[in-house]
Amino acid sequence: MVAGLEAVKQEKIWMNGKLIKWDDAKVHVLSHGLHYGTTVFEGIRCYDTKNGVGIFRLEEHIDRLFDSAKIYCMDDFAYSKKELIKACLDVIRENNLKGAYVRPIIYKGYGGLTVIAKESKTEVAIAAWPWGAYLGTAAQTGLSVKISSWTKIAPNTMPTMAKAGSNYMNSQLAVMEVVRDGYDEAILLDNEGFISEGSGENLFLVKDKIIYTPTISSSILNGITRKTVLQIAKNFGYEVKEEKIPREMIYIADEAFFSGTAAEISAITKVDKIKIADGKIGLVTGKIRDEFYRCIEIGEPKEWFSFI
Ligand SMILES: Cc1ncc(COP(=O)(O)O)c(C=O)c1O
Repeated sequence: MVAGLEAVKQEKIWMNGKLIKWDDAKVHVLSHGLHYGTTVFEGIRCYDTKNGVGIFRLEEHIDRLFDSAKIYCMDDFAYSKKELIKACLDVIRENNLKGAYVRPIIYKGYGGLTVIAKESKTEVAIAAWPWGAYLGTAAQTGLSVKISSWTKIAPNTMPTMAKAGSNYMNSQLAVMEVVRDGYDEAILLDNEGFISEGSGENLFLVKDKIIYTPTISSSILNGITRKTVLQIAKNFGYEVKEEKIPREMIYIADEAFFSGTAAEISAITKVDKIKIADGKIGLVTGKIRDEFYRCIEIGEPKEWFSFI
């Protein structure tokens, strides 16, 4: 059976250093994170590969989690990177999971509600559950996406290199708008009008066999799947350019696709109802997507996986 997208109840959640019962992993209604969005988190996939059950690029995800916490001065918790890596593996093992989504979160807990969060402790939790294809079956045949009227948060407003829960209010406005209009996913432009990313994915374009993706200066999350795509593309010998990408470039592109932990590699075949090239999944996209899925099927290269 293919897993859906709901967080299906498992046995245990790791919370503040202990594996506890799923139903006991609760926070108080006056928790700071609930009121002011003081949360940073990760989304990680675990795959049932031919080399065993392995969490994909776990160390890099934990590095990014620590970076996010540092940006928001929420790194005053007691656990090391090594301990959180072990905790993610323990959550998979303890719940007997194979293919799963792993969600570590750091948040300001109960204690006070001053904006600066002086009175609230920083807490850490990790949950995991089986998870399906994020963008549904359309991701297999090609997504129809729309450029949202909402602008991506600007660099001097909120830092997009921090994977903070509050960033996703901006993503939600964008994706709600376009889903209401019948599209599969949103693309946001940055505050200068250049292409930034999807509501929960990085974006790639292909034009004349060159692969383009927005730079980290275009208000993107520095995606770990993006990094994986760049590595795969370079291994295939493609020229890759990380640069500012004007909006019109997507209309005249030969191919476009999203990358992300949730979306994995998902082809885009229409933008704003305009077909990209002939409206079919492109050759470069197909090649990169197939290689990505081959790697996660066989669990190689081994250094991309933390096996349980
Ligand atoms: C806004 C945004 N951009 C990009 C990505 C892709 O990042 P990664 O490949 O590390 O999952 C995500 C993933 O959650 C995201 O939420």
